Amino acid sequence: EARFRAACTHLDDPAPTAWQTQIRGAVTDGFVNTSDTDPALPANQAWAEAIRAGLPCPDLGADTLDAATTDDAATVARVVAAGRAAGAEWASTPVEERVAALHRLGTELEAARSDLVRVAADEVGKLIDQADVEVSEACDFAHYYATLAAEQVEGATHVPPALVLVASPWNFPIAIPLGGVAAALAAGAAVILKPAPPARRIAALLIEACRRAGIPANAAQLLFVEDGPLGEQLITDDRVDQVVLTGAAETAELFRSWRPDLHLLAETSGKNAIVVTPSADLDLAAADLVYSAFGHAGQKCSAASLGILVGDVATSRRFLDQVLDAARSLTVAWPEEPLAEMGPLTEEPGEKLLRGLTELEPGQSWLLKPERLGDRLWRPGVRDGVRPGSEFHQTEYFGPVLGLMAARDLDEAIAWQNGTRYGLTAGLHSLDATEVQRWINRIQAGNAYVNRTITGAIVRRQPFGGWKRSAVGPGIKAGGPNYLTGFGHWEPAAPVE
Ligand code: ALA
Repeated sequence: EARFRAACTHLDDPAPTAWQTQIRGAVTDGFVNTSDTDPALPANQAWAEAIRAGLPCPDLGADTLDAATTDDAATVARVVAAGRAAGAEWASTPVEERVAALHRLGTELEAARSDLVRVAADEVGKLIDQADVEVSEACDFAHYYATLAAEQVEGATHVPPALVLVASPWNFPIAIPLGGVAAALAAGAAVILKPAPPARRIAALLIEACRRAGIPANAAQLLFVEDGPLGEQLITDDRVDQVVLTGAAETAELFRSWRPDLHLLAETSGKNAIVVTPSADLDLAAADLVYSAFGHAGQKCSAASLGILVGDVATSRRFLDQVLDAARSLTVAWPEEPLAEMGPLTEEPGEKLLRGLTELEPGQSWLLKPERLGDRLWRPGVRDGVRPGSEFHQTEYFGPVLGLMAARDLDEAIAWQNGTRYGLTAGLHSLDATEVQRWINRIQAGNAYVNRTITGAIVRRQPFGGWKRSAVGPGIKAGGPNYLTGFGHWEPAAPVE
């Protein structure tokens, strides 16, 4: 631990903004620009080495987690009661104090960057560069929601919920839970964070940061219960006013089946595609497709699971070789490995993902066959011949397998891209302005990106949320100017732009 701390001394830099600028890339509009983090910078490499030297780290967050873990229904009920009482107090705290606490939370998260990255790597197998940008996103959420609260709460007629439950996923174990917690607190609600089982220790670190920021203990509680009866107890307790869920569409449906009148704000599954037309910068398209498909081993709701290749692109040997070479050459390894470019699966693949990794449907073939290297480590796969309406076209596998489709023209490609139940992210690679406009007019996705990757939305610049079966609720997006209006009843002082 001491060696690790010594190697990380630059983390104590008293001027984090300057540090971010020097070490992590540009700071844009006062926010850490998550897309500008460059793992190739020597300073970032040294930092990553120090993180690796500090792995494994089983003690970090463990005490807080133990104290928050229960299998007892009465304890769950007590936590809910305490949260509800704290919500009334938090709501009556002057908004400027709540705003200041959230800014302090952003600062505390920045100070805890190395610990957060280490536990994310240790607990869910996030690679260090991927966990690093997530910390930046978490800091941005805290500061951004603080700013929104300062601008929007004053003068508005607003009745916040007393108590919000944040049910968070394991794939973005830092930014997504923190975003939910910070938004609820910014809106004036108390919050209980119930993390997904594989990502519980990292949630404990987030709650510790809330404590250090001076947020009252019962206003931001951690509660860890295994999925099952106690989860159902939490959802159905009518003292919980609202649930913020990021998870599978089936989980949202389960919550609704338990409590039909549940006020649910959910971002759920996706089946996302990038369309590449012959006018595209094909080098860029290949790189963005591979990054979007295999970042964090494809375990992102935003990941590209399909590449829809228009016209000649589908038969362009050069383009296909670039995609396959890039996928084949990814170094698949644990976060401790300095050369790792694609990390492990967080859990052994379930039956559905295993099918995606091993079984072809009629007419499909492997251009690159996925290969199991060992526990939870898989080389990525690419299949072609995916047809509209097939299982692969419709199913979210949440793993490192990409399917290619060959479309006659852009209209067919858009129809296939829109032709799933989901509508989370979508991409287009084209340098033809008419094509871009045509696509923008028709695409059905919460987040639509042109000539870039389709993962890694940036707070404020790219509010993130779904459409169709990728969302439940009023369609407002995390990291966007309307997000706080999803918490409680609002009559804004002025229309929110
Ligand atoms: N917000 C995450 C992304 O954009 C899910 O990749």
